[in-house]
Amino acid sequence: MSTAPEPAVPAFDPDRVRIFDTTLRDGEQSPGASMNLSEKLEVARVLAALGVDIIEAGFPIASVGDFESVRAIAGEITGSTVCGLARCNDKDIDRAWEAVKYAQKSRIHVFLATSAIHREHKLRMTPAQIIERAVASVRRARSYCHDIEFSPEDAARTELDFLCEVVAAAIEAGATTVNIPDTVGYATPTQYAAVIRTLRERVGNIGQAIISTHCHDDLGMAVANSLAGVEAGARQVECTINGIGERAGNAALEEIVMALKTRHDYFGLTTGIKTERLYPASRMVSTITGLLVQRNKAIVGRNAFAHEAGIHQDGMLKERSTYEIMRPEDVGVPRTDLVLGKHSGRHALRDRVTELGYTLTDEQIEVVFNDFKALADKKKEVYDQDLAILVEKHMEDIPAPWQLLSLHTTAGTSVLPTATVAIRRPDGEVVQDAAIGDGPVDAIFKAVERVTGVHANLHEFVVRNVTQGKDAQGEVTLELEVESDDRSFRGRAASTDIIEASALAYINAVNAIQTHKERGHVREVAGRPGAGA
Ligand code: KIV
Ligand code: ZN
Repeated sequence: MSTAPEPAVPAFDPDRVRIFDTTLRDGEQSPGASMNLSEKLEVARVLAALGVDIIEAGFPIASVGDFESVRAIAGEITGSTVCGLARCNDKDIDRAWEAVKYAQKSRIHVFLATSAIHREHKLRMTPAQIIERAVASVRRARSYCHDIEFSPEDAARTELDFLCEVVAAAIEAGATTVNIPDTVGYATPTQYAAVIRTLRERVGNIGQAIISTHCHDDLGMAVANSLAGVEAGARQVECTINGIGERAGNAALEEIVMALKTRHDYFGLTTGIKTERLYPASRMVSTITGLLVQRNKAIVGRNAFAHEAGIHQDGMLKERSTYEIMRPEDVGVPRTDLVLGKHSGRHALRDRVTELGYTLTDEQIEVVFNDFKALADKKKEVYDQDLAILVEKHMEDIPAPWQLLSLHTTAGTSVLPTATVAIRRPDGEVVQDAAIGDGPVDAIFKAVERVTGVHANLHEFVVRNVTQGKDAQGEVTLELEVESDDRSFRGRAASTDIIEASALAYINAVNAIQTHKERGHVREVAGRPGAGA
């Protein structure tokens, strides 16, 4: 074991709040949100470009896949610190260090439950044993790395005296950040702030560490609790894009950041986030995880900047600030005006895509450009949202063993719905088949099933318009459940024709199933936080 040089007390600007993003760890624990390695890398790049201070890239001991994605992120990302999670035991800590050690800036995050409920029922450990284990683990982590975070899991329900004791011992052992999780989303803002304040008043060495918040949203108070924690002196907030996470989720990054920015007059604090990248980041995480953002979601929901009432519209026309406290462009919400047309060239496309917050290679631009031309032929008006869909389609890195070549459906009030599909198989052969169904979409799904031989239950099917106008693009998101595997797979596609989008989304999910089978990938969960930690 290497011995790291003496700790430097973290020098920090007291007016700056660090943003610790855990979309790739706690966020990935949202049911149905697991991501593959290339998807995680894609999200990590977006987070780094957004300016997050720390990216919690995963829980390396949980599976080989988790380990490899944390290591890949650590090897590539610059600017942001890359953090790996570990329970308080040697194997977890060693594995976490193996995964993050090549990062430009690495952090190990160790956690151990401290509340009486967890101590007695889950861990069966006495308070003295908890302190001993926490200290030994922080020391071990500190022997590898200078930047160590310690979390007393379920801190918000831990007796305050004991919490102060554990936190003091963890700092003494070398923790540079102490995180105070409200693991089950039980706290209220006043109570949570009191916990942070008490730590600041009663823990003698608290000045040697940054206090962090980590709030879950079970009672819908994650953001309010985090901000109350900040007001009480916390200077790191743990959060996720779109608030995804275990159960009801975590505090939403975009809400925390925009609350601090918009109410700078009140909080007097800043973050390093490039807020105009929030909306593209939200869309990207939603695309990759398949977790849709509710329409009325603050900051990034589709209605967040829509004004319906006449009285509001009138006020807006006279003076925006009457009803708007943030400008859509401040968070990167695409403009609704016409941006590009049939005759626009590659340069204009690249400029607009960059303005929207996406970074694409020359090859990706070329592919998006071809799709853009095809879309501009079908659709008179190409909006920013249309471009976002085209770009995101090519950012998904799922190989496509099965490809839809053509599709024909018949449906109506007095005909039997029928679908004929031509599909290229993974070996290159083109196969045609037809099926009847309860409607044209059902017929397509049955025809695809006949060709591919992939049997799955349709679990969820959502169609929504994602751009505006009569010729808007429709987006289909669906989930297929494979019983033999006890797993579900997402598919997503957009088109001006929702029947075509349905077929493409279904094949997208079938491809995910095929790729999963080829890799023989079985997720070996070694213990998620909260389950035996
Ligand atoms: O909610 C929680 O307590 C956690 C810890 C691992 C920080 O996610
Ligand atoms: Zn959590």
